[in-house]
Order: sequence, then structure tokens, then C-alpha cells
Amino acid sequence: MRTVYVNGEYLPETEARVSIFDRGFLMADGVYEVVCVLGGKLVDFEGHMVRLDRSLSELDMTRPSARDDLLEIHRELVTRNTLDQGLIYLQVTRGNPGDRDFNFPPKETEPTVVLFTQDMPSLMDNPKAKRGARVISVPDLRWGRRDIKTVQLLYPSMAKTMAQAAGVDDAWMVEDGHVTEGTSNNAYIIKNGRIITRALSNDILHGITRAAVLRFAREAQMEVEERSFTIEEAKDADEAFVTSASAFVTPVVELDGAAIGTGMPGPIAARLREIYIDESLKVAV
Ligand code: PDD
Repeated sequence: MRTVYVNGEYLPETEARVSIFDRGFLMADGVYEVVCVLGGKLVDFEGHMVRLDRSLSELDMTRPSARDDLLEIHRELVTRNTLDQGLIYLQVTRGNPGDRDFNFPPKETEPTVVLFTQDMPSLMDNPKAKRGARVISVPDLRWGRRDIKTVQLLYPSMAKTMAQAAGVDDAWMVEDGHVTEGTSNNAYIIKNGRIITRALSNDILHGITRAAVLRFAREAQMEVEERSFTIEEAKDADEAFVTSASAFVTPVVELDGAAIGTGMPGPIAARLREIYIDESLKVAV
């Protein structure tokens, strides 16, 4: 059984409790982060904590603990759960004001802080990295502040379920004719050697993996163009891929039933995956 962390305590998962009046439960009033664990070490922990601070401050929430304490809790969960490969979820909500009310509760209301691990022994050897993912496009029906990593995941969850019903792996969301991102990842195409991905704005989550992969790509003298692209452009691309803390770099080989490039994972996505995993392991904490 897993050991989880709830508001200062390490508990067996079956004993962990959160109030039914918690704002996360009633209003989706909370944010989260997902840190990848490889070889028992945390990948890009600092980047995820910087984004957590940003999500909290955009919603006028206070950070529950110092960054060093959060690092310690992450490490403790790795140890207590003997986690080698997997993910750690950190969820922070606006807490339990004792009643249901639309207005934000007083600032002194204690946030709810929950961390739990997910064991994923085949993160690095994910078969999708070899065969490539197949995606469909769906309209992006999420709210307008997708740069904040909130626990409001109903639409991405619906979109993933639509993808599953269509017999594919995932969905790319489209707004005003252009791809925003995947349901839980950032989306890229490659055309004539250039890596194209939507520029940062409130329209997409500012992926921590995205930042690292674009930095590695530029260091390897690859050309990067941060701009929006259409579904037609994506179908006509040489390669496509997605990035996230759990997918690293995963090739996308089919979009709405049309093969992308050869219909097989391409060399640039494969190279970026290799660089990302190698470099991340070097600096994991
Ligand atoms: N999802 N875009 C969305 C909508 C996401 O939910 C995620 C991450 C990303 C990639 O961000 P990062 O590279 O920082 O993981 C982009 C995580 C993995 C999740 O919800 O499980």
C-alpha cells in the first residue's frame, strides 16, 4: 500500500482524509504539479516548483511550505514507497473554509496539501516511444487561463476518453483553426528540419519539459520556430511529437487517421527523446 502525504502527515493511502468542504472538491479551486522520478531521482524539480509558485500567485493563493520542505517531502515519498520510476503528484487547494461559498475564503484559511506517488516502471521504455502515438483533433473547450496548472481537468479527461473511444492514444486540441496543445502535453511538428510549436501565452500550459527540450534543441543547432500551426500543416509535417513530464518526448505518427511523414517515429523526435532523458538524468536531484 502507498504512503501518501496529507497536510503534514505521512499516512497509508486508505487513512488519508480531506474534508467534503474542501475548495478543491467543491470548486476545482486548486493547482497541481507532476514531477517525474527516474532512478529514484526527481527530474527538473526546480522548474516545477517555479511553475507551482506562479500558478499559486496567479490565483492569489499562498505557497504552503518552503521549497526545501517540499523537496524533502518529495524525497521522503520516494524513499517510503521505494519508487524507482514514476510520478509524484503535488496538489494544493484553497482548503476548507468550513462551508460552501463562491467567494474566496479569508486569506488565513489553511491550504490543503496532498502528495502521492504513481509507480510507472515502464516510463523510460514506453512502447509508445517506439511505435509512436496516434491522435485525433478535438475543439479546445477549456477555460482561458490554461497557463495556470489547475486541477480543473474535466475537459482534458473528456477529450482523452473521446480519443480512447476512437481507438487512438490521445487528442490534440484546436482553437481558431490552430492546435493549442495535447490533453496533457505540449504539441510540436517538424517540417524541413524546423521544430514548430505554439508560442507561450495564456492559451497553453508552459511545459517544463517544453522549456528543457527547446533549450536542448537549440544547443544542438536545431531550428526552433515558436508559432501556431494548423491541423493541415500537422498532417503535412515530416514528424510530430508531444512533450510532458511523463511522456518526455513521444513521437506522434497519425492525426485524424492520416499518417504523419512515413507513419513511423522520425529521427529528430527520437534524437530529442534521447537527449532529453540523458540530460535530465544528469541533473536529477
Ligand atoms: N501534464 N499541457 C498540459 C495541458 C498538461 O497537462 C501538461 C502536463 C503539459 C506538459 O507540461 P510538463 O512538461 O511541465 O509536464 C502541457 C501532466 C504530466 C499531467 O497532468 O499528468
